[in-house]
Amino acid sequence: MATPLTIAELKDVARRRVPKMFFDYADSGAWTEGTYKANEADFAAIKLRQRVLVDMTNRSLESTMIGEKVSMPVALSPTGLTGMQHADGEILAAQAAEKAGVPFTLSTMSVCSIEDVAAHTTKPFWFQLYVMKDREFVKSLINRARAAGCSALVLTLDLQILGQRHKDIRNGLSTPPKFIPKHIWQVATRPKWAFEMLGTKRRSFGNIVGHAKGVGDLSSLSSWTAEQFDPRLSWDDVAWIKEQWGGKLILKGIMDADDAVKAAETGAEAIIVSNHGGRQLDGAASSISVLPEIVKAVGDRIEVHVDGGIRSGQDVLKALCLGAQGTYIGRPFLYGLGAYGKRGVTIALDIIRNELDITMALCGKRDIRDVGPELLHHRLPVVA
Ligand code: FNR
Repeated sequence: MATPLTIAELKDVARRRVPKMFFDYADSGAWTEGTYKANEADFAAIKLRQRVLVDMTNRSLESTMIGEKVSMPVALSPTGLTGMQHADGEILAAQAAEKAGVPFTLSTMSVCSIEDVAAHTTKPFWFQLYVMKDREFVKSLINRARAAGCSALVLTLDLQILGQRHKDIRNGLSTPPKFIPKHIWQVATRPKWAFEMLGTKRRSFGNIVGHAKGVGDLSSLSSWTAEQFDPRLSWDDVAWIKEQWGGKLILKGIMDADDAVKAAETGAEAIIVSNHGGRQLDGAASSISVLPEIVKAVGDRIEVHVDGGIRSGQDVLKALCLGAQGTYIGRPFLYGLGAYGKRGVTIALDIIRNELDITMALCGKRDIRDVGPELLHHRLPVVA
């Protein structure tokens, strides 16, 4: 088959290669999936300004995110269970990101462990932390991330309680994945995926199993996870984590200007305007629609990044024009991974890079660091 030219085409290939319950896990949002859909749809409402007869030679997409050089301001979002889209998924995605010169963020809920990823990469990656009730375990995760050379901690704030996804419930998908009869059919019809999965030793939640108290194997993980997300999480905990970590901190899941002000006061390097890809609060505004008000509130004090619904280089450019210093893609790289492993993540990044480059040029800019609201016809997208 010809190499996919769009993220939508990669998604179609992934749908054919990944067992349904894991494809659906990536391709789902909470409840009605209204926010998941709005994240994508609201980008389309923002229109770019075409410019002509501007010198478009010698273009550059290079920028920085939290002071780190990036070949383009597009990082990979932390995503749980990435290793179920493809065997060794986290390692392959991290390697593809490293090759592309963009940040990779490893989720707490990853299949491959922090140490697995560190052993197979040469540059520092970022580690995403969920704050569990067991603070000793949280401390140990922070220490492991530091020992592995992670250069930033991405602290996720919008999962004090788990959002519900109907597809996962219907598919019988649990953490950890438990095989029920219909899964056998789903896996049997995806033999390549299954053979690759059988060939890897990494089938556990490597950050947790064997490390958290009472979680010696996969069977005890499910109940542990269910009761460990901390509904009492507070700004004091953020201060505590910042102190424990002592390095660069990114706060993920900010959707409100008042919360953004509080986040800026913590002294973190950056915030990510994010609604968890529409997987938590269904009915929340799209992240791109709240980006302008958050940039207005704190953009002069803290780096503002954004994720949710980015499916093209055009979307990246629009987010940058609205004041984001950096962007992230979640599902686009998961689709690439499910479709073709490491090569697929590279394809996803190449698609976005190529689209970003051409779009920037056709808007009359040569340097991605120079883009701003003047490139947009509608400065404010759908307002929440
Ligand atoms: C996520 N997301 C997420 N976020 C996080 O902080 N920790 C995690 O473990 C996960 N897990 C996860 C799994 C899957 C399958 C998806 C799709 C997403 C949210 C993620 O980091 C990011 O916010 C969104 O994916 C961004 O939206 P798009 O790019 O997927 O539309």
